[in-house]
Amino acid sequence: MRFSITTALVGAAALISTVSADFYNRLNVNDTAFLFIDHQTGLLNLVDDYKPDAFLNNVMGLAETAKYFNVPTILTTSREDGPNGGLLPSLKKLFPDAPYVARPGQINAWDDPEFVKAVKKTGKKQLVISGIVTDVCVAFVSLSAKKAGYEVFVVTDASGTFNEAVRDASWLRMQAGGIQLMNWFAVACELGRDWRRDITGMAALFANRLPAYSHVMDSYNAAQAAALEAAK
Ligand SMILES: *[C@@H]1O[C@H](CO)[C@@H](O)[C@H](O)[C@H]1NC(C)=O
Repeated sequence: MRFSITTALVGAAALISTVSADFYNRLNVNDTAFLFIDHQTGLLNLVDDYKPDAFLNNVMGLAETAKYFNVPTILTTSREDGPNGGLLPSLKKLFPDAPYVARPGQINAWDDPEFVKAVKKTGKKQLVISGIVTDVCVAFVSLSAKKAGYEVFVVTDASGTFNEAVRDASWLRMQAGGIQLMNWFAVACELGRDWRRDITGMAALFANRLPAYSHVMDSYNAAQAAALEAAK
């Protein structure tokens, strides 16, 4: 690709005009609701921008984050009686009592009054959204919620689609619409804010889903044990 100074300047100007001073609205544990959109067993087969095991792990890491912070969570599916398939069983199991909207046909969940009612009922203004597929089920509802006045945070690594080109185009579209793109680990850290809040709980949340993090904890715990032994 050829890259000229003109392209760089045009790019920089575009960036300056779209980034406002109040861009950084942090996730606040008191203002947040999580929406899981169409994590269905049929649709999971369309996800090819993450490997199946990594993707499942990310979705469950995000779900356990919602559970850990005890924030309102809404589950929704689209045509679950057809090829899209039923909701991911492990997700359903984690939230047996969460509002569950099985949409009869609406591709954009925001077109379903029952879903919008469930979101309004949470009383939260920040929506953490993930789902399948990124460019349709996630992008449509996110852009609609943003337009309706919500602060929208899309979780990139708990949302999946056909390939990286499709994914990147939908990320750009959402970003241009003022939606913040985050990974689930960043969502958890922004909600947690401070390790002193509950260091063992947060470490367990991460160690459970991030093998690299569990290695950190294992080596740390081993070093602590060795130090205690040496001090005897
Ligand atoms: C959330 O609400 C609680 C109770 O009102 C308050 O103590 C806490 O500081 C709030 N958290 C944040 C991040 O604003």
